Amino acid sequence: MCGIIGYVGNRPALPILIEGMRRLEYRGYDSAGVALVDQGTVGVTKSAGRLSVLEQILDLTATQTTGIGHTRWATHGAPTDVNAHPHQDCTGKIALIHNGIIENERALRTYLQQQGVTLTSETDTEVLAQMIGRFYEGDLEHAVRQALHEVSGTYGIAVICADEPGVIIAARKGSPLIIGIGKGEHLVASDAAAILAHTSQVVYMDDGEIARITADQVRMTTLDATPVTKKIEEVEWSLEQIELTGYDHFMLKEICEQPAALENCLRGRIDLGDGSIHLGGLVDCTRELTRAKRIILTACGTAWHAALVGEYLFEELTRIPTETEYASEFRYRNPIIDDGTVVIAVSQSGETADTAAALAEAKQRGALTLGVVNVVGSTIARAADAGVYLHVGPEIGVASTKAFTGQVVVLALIASYLGRRKHLSATAAEQFISALARIPHQIGEILEHVDAAKSVAQRYADRENWLYLGRGYNYPVALEGALKLKEISYIHAEGLPAAEMKHGPIALIHEGMPVVVIATAGTQYDKIISNIAQVRTRGGSVIAIATEGDRQIAEQADHVLYVPDTVEPLQPLLTAIPLQLIAYYAAVHRGCNVDKPRNLAKSVTVE
Ligand code: F6R
Repeated sequence: MCGIIGYVGNRPALPILIEGMRRLEYRGYDSAGVALVDQGTVGVTKSAGRLSVLEQILDLTATQTTGIGHTRWATHGAPTDVNAHPHQDCTGKIALIHNGIIENERALRTYLQQQGVTLTSETDTEVLAQMIGRFYEGDLEHAVRQALHEVSGTYGIAVICADEPGVIIAARKGSPLIIGIGKGEHLVASDAAAILAHTSQVVYMDDGEIARITADQVRMTTLDATPVTKKIEEVEWSLEQIELTGYDHFMLKEICEQPAALENCLRGRIDLGDGSIHLGGLVDCTRELTRAKRIILTACGTAWHAALVGEYLFEELTRIPTETEYASEFRYRNPIIDDGTVVIAVSQSGETADTAAALAEAKQRGALTLGVVNVVGSTIARAADAGVYLHVGPEIGVASTKAFTGQVVVLALIASYLGRRKHLSATAAEQFISALARIPHQIGEILEHVDAAKSVAQRYADRENWLYLGRGYNYPVALEGALKLKEISYIHAEGLPAAEMKHGPIALIHEGMPVVVIATAGTQYDKIISNIAQVRTRGGSVIAIATEGDRQIAEQADHVLYVPDTVEPLQPLLTAIPLQLIAYYAAVHRGCNVDKPRNLAKSVTVE
């Protein structure tokens, strides 16, 4: 969704802003714009469409050293030139970029109109810019503070003013902002990817904070002007991790990175000698966690599928009753949170609005809250009482891949960490941990046979309806495989627990319909073989995901993609890989923009 970048220093700001905006493109956007301060004026250039359109109308030789840039994903108002950010007040002196939603926009709009202010766009952001303009009497920081007191909703903003060249005011409430610390220069951004080329030293802004940023200084205060001292932190991501490095797409890069990403996720956390698990983020709440009577996992999309695997893992390894809830439903349905409920929010970005709100709701009702998050310093990571980071590196591709497997690994770690403190025997824990330690290498083995998945994907890429079936631990993988296919190739796909097929969806099966069946070795193998027979009898083309060495399945299915053997609870970490590859190659074959699928944004920061 929307992205923010700001620069103040001694170098020309424009190339830095454009490069930063390019790095934010992966989040999804439909218009872009920049504002530069120049000798008593603020120059704004903006347009609907891709960054390349904006570049055509920009004076790329501009030398101003203070500026802000924005990529917009339309919420209030269509993606037009006028609605693109930055927005200005009616004097044209102040320019503002904004992520988030101003909820009392209507009331403020009416007030401004009554004061004779003409608003030119349909956006809530312009309303905020005009409010700052109304309060401006020569001190931008003061005016921003006053205006924010009138506003309800969420915001991450960066503001500049013609009368104060060399100053950016940034403020945050519910929408992330970080300040990059350079030498004689500072940057502000909504995402570390936008500034990594310049610095890895950052300050994470917290909700309710305002920063006055100049080339030499960052001064932070609360909304009520109380000074705050912040720590400078190091972003652990490298520039290489956010670049394609020879791959055609980030999605493929991230699929292929999974062995290394999961090694990183496991590093220092498991001890194969005694089967113990070390999760620094849980040390302070381990006693409370062990006493949990109920666990609720909450998430959206792919993270919800990982959470569903987590539910099965928690119940099996800890015997604590566990449920998985869509974050968007959980927050609005008056959930029962009693003494002893632990709520775990699972999120790659740590910024998904519904998941963050669900976590806040749980916290407010007294639950112990944990975050299973990838992005360090993100909203959910900061809001949770405790948590465990994925450490799988930045995920740029809109379709989540390595974050899914990272989430499952972390949930498996937490489940066995807790399980050991409940009823899980040392031997069982050791076996589980050794199987987990083998997973990165086993994923590497699957990735040696990419061509098999590619040829299946290409063969069926023209079919408009697919079914994905799985049982037990592989049921969430069926859901995930279907989601991957539909989001990047725009093919309709449905994931089901295999036994449910006969309760209705079997009516859909017709000659040549691709049906992906996860049929790995395990307790339900015979049943899934019967499901395969039911599909084939009706003419469906079965693509089976099976365990290496299973020769019998080749007679039942039209195509077989093999994965190495592992314990049943960890199968999702392997069976997800061929499904990611099928989705990727089907989308490429159909000529789809894999990394920027239509209508989608990388992190969904609005409801
Ligand atoms: C699908 C996908 C989305 C996200 C969902 C939650 O490939 O990426 O379904 O999983 O929007 O995002 P996070 O994990 O950032 O909370």
